[in-house]
Amino acid sequence: MTALQRVPASGPVDAIVDALTADGAVIVEDLLDADLLARFNAELDPLVAAAQPEHDTKFLNEAIAWFFGQQTRHVTGVAAKSPIFVNEILPHPVYLGVCDAVLGPSCARYQLNIAHVLDRGPGSEQQFLHRDEAVWVHLPNPHPEIQLASVIALVDFTADNGATRVAPGSNHWPADRVATDDDLVPAEMRAGSAVVYLGSAIHAGGANVTAGERRRGMHVSYCVGWLRTEENQYLSAPPDVVRAMPRQSQELLGYAAHDALMSGGGYLGVVDLRDPVDLIADGHL
Ligand SMILES: [Fe+2]
Repeated sequence: MTALQRVPASGPVDAIVDALTADGAVIVEDLLDADLLARFNAELDPLVAAAQPEHDTKFLNEAIAWFFGQQTRHVTGVAAKSPIFVNEILPHPVYLGVCDAVLGPSCARYQLNIAHVLDRGPGSEQQFLHRDEAVWVHLPNPHPEIQLASVIALVDFTADNGATRVAPGSNHWPADRVATDDDLVPAEMRAGSAVVYLGSAIHAGGANVTAGERRRGMHVSYCVGWLRTEENQYLSAPPDVVRAMPRQSQELLGYAAHDALMSGGGYLGVVDLRDPVDLIADGHL
C-alpha cells in the first residue's frame, strides 16, 4: 500500500501529472483557496439543504440508490446552478493543465463529464469499488486515458467521515484484478483540496462512521470530447442557461464542435455545419 502523493495546486502542473500518471491518483492541495471555498460553500448551502436524502425510486435504476445509499444528499447538474463553479472551478488552470496533458493526446477537445455535489451523512456505507470509466464499459481494453476525475473536499475529509478510498497504482492493473482492503488508502485532506484521479483508478467513497459529521464533496470529471457524457449537459444546462456564460465554459460544457479534421478524422456535434458556440455568439442559438 502506497500513500497518495500530495502536490500543491500552486506548483507546476507537471508535478501533478507525474504523480497522477504514476499512481493513478494524487492529492492536489488547496485547489480551491480559502476565499473560493467559502464562497462556493455559501452558494451550495441552500441547494444542499433543499436536497432530500431519502431513497428516490425515480432514479434511472435502483442500483443508483443502492450505490449512493440513503444518507446522501445530491446536488446534480451543478454547472447550471452555480456561477462560481462555471466561472472559477470548471476552467480552473489545474484542471485544464492536467486535462491538456492526460486527455489532449486522445481528442480534439475535452468536456465536462459530470459536476455533482455529494453530501454524505453519518451511516453512509463504503461504495463498491469501481473505476469511473466503467460508464463506457463497451470501450475495449486497453485504451488511452479517456477521463480525468476528481473529488473536491468541501469540508475536511477524514478516514472516519468517508474520505474517498483509492487503490494507488490500480491504473496499471489488468482490468480483471480486484482491489482488496489492503490496497486502499483514504484521501484524507483539508477542505479545498481535491483527490484527482484517472478514470482507470479503482476507488470508492468511504464509509461515514462519525456520529454527526456530514462529508460534503464534489465529484468533477472531464472526458474526451467524442464520448457521451454521464450527465446530459445539454438538458441539465440548456442554451437559455449557457448563453450568458463565457465562451470557454460553453465549450467545456460540450457545446463546442469536436473537430478532428486536422487529425485526419471528421467532426462531431455541429448544427447547420457550424460550431454551436459560434451560433450562440451570433444569437442564432
Ligand atoms: Fe467513482
